[in-house]
Amino acid sequence: ILKELKSGCATPLPVLRRVADAMADDMRAGLASDHSGSELKMILSYVDVLPTGNEKGLFYALDLGGTNFRVLRVQLGGKDNRVIDTEFEQVSIPRELMFGTSEELFDFIASGLARFVESESGIFHLPPERKREIGFTFSFPVNQTSIDSGILMKWTKGFAVSGTAGKDVVACLNEAMERQGLDMRVSALVNDTVGTLAGARYWDDDVMVAVILGTGTNACYIEQTDAIPKLQSLASGSGRTIINTEWGAFSDGLPLTEFDYDMDNESINPGEQIFEKTISGMYLGEIVRRVLLKMSKFSALFGNSVPEKLSTPFVLRTPDLCAMHQDDSRDLYEVGMRLGGIVGTTSSTLEARKVALEVIDTIVQRGGRLAGAGIVGILQKLEQDSRGLVFGKRTVVAMDGGLYENYPQYRNYLKGAVTELLGPELSKNVIIEHTKDGSGIGAALLAAVNSKYID
Ligand code: BG6
Ligand code: GLC
Repeated sequence: ILKELKSGCATPLPVLRRVADAMADDMRAGLASDHSGSELKMILSYVDVLPTGNEKGLFYALDLGGTNFRVLRVQLGGKDNRVIDTEFEQVSIPRELMFGTSEELFDFIASGLARFVESESGIFHLPPERKREIGFTFSFPVNQTSIDSGILMKWTKGFAVSGTAGKDVVACLNEAMERQGLDMRVSALVNDTVGTLAGARYWDDDVMVAVILGTGTNACYIEQTDAIPKLQSLASGSGRTIINTEWGAFSDGLPLTEFDYDMDNESINPGEQIFEKTISGMYLGEIVRRVLLKMSKFSALFGNSVPEKLSTPFVLRTPDLCAMHQDDSRDLYEVGMRLGGIVGTTSSTLEARKVALEVIDTIVQRGGRLAGAGIVGILQKLEQDSRGLVFGKRTVVAMDGGLYENYPQYRNYLKGAVTELLGPELSKNVIIEHTKDGSGIGAALLAAVNSKYID
């Protein structure tokens, strides 16, 4: 089983190249038309002016879509002081809200915001005619209709809230704020990738791409408007705009196994988000669990009986894989402990622990390397269409999300694949950099850029 798994998940250079090329081709198809059939939606973000550093004033951000829901307040100090103060609160999203109604979810967000604003107790003042403005990071596929409105296309990452798909999520938030008696205004609705790009670019003009690798995965980048045939009459003044690729939906040429197909079939969104299901944090642990279950059924990995908990979907989480992956002790003590605690093996042999580690490494290696190939696909597309303006200079890819931040092996596999694909010379100019929590600040910055009160 291990041998088959390894060969099914293998990502030698030709596979990486195939994935990077397919990513670039699908991007072009998605930019050509919304009806091209491309898996990549290449969503127009309506962000064509990026923060310059001159932004000033008090702005808020809401961030929904990762493991946590966050509310932030950001004081922007202008050219000399930049961000002078940020404060935030975060809570994890109660599981039942992921399966509840739209009103319940948006009431939860608005009440979190109301509590946050209430706790300021008059410290932060705005002129009386001026509403508090919010940048709303909403990390799901949204068909933007303007910078401050957009229709939810579908839920991803295990959310199945009823009554939101097909609706304007800013209108949903406004209604909930009204129910809370909150008089605030959403000035920018952004995807988490777009927030991350704006936040990172605030400090570094060479940032061109932002990637989230967390519960889910996605990437956005700065595109020339004349390379977007579907933009037609909407052409923006600056000649550039951010495109949200929604690359989680990509699937061309991926090395997949029976475990991936089974997980997909049994998911709440079969056939969708295949790249996300192969490389992102929500799913890596679940793929490993499925492999270990098969091994314990058919090759008695954990003795004669199958540990009961191993049959529970999603019992093994990516942070557990990460903790086991760091174990370099001779008896793999941590691996044994985790297997005991999480999947309920009464005792595991050293051999079984080694096998479990190999399974983890195989799945994490595939995920990290494919993520790297995706990044190269985007850079390649930019390089080809700009006739050489990307690889010849420093180009920064801003990264965020719990998986990238906390999993060193995953990060190394990703970077290794980028270097392998680009070669040592070109990859010197490509800087892959963690931008911690940039999306909240980025959303506040975009609220500032799009403020209704700019004179
Ligand atoms: C955070 C960003 O740092 O990473 C969020 O600010 C983003 O906007 C998130 O959604 C991804 O989080 P997670 O919990 O999925 O790793
Ligand atoms: C999912 C969402 C996408 C988001 C990503 C990372 O793929 O569809 O919008 O950016 O997760 O959070």
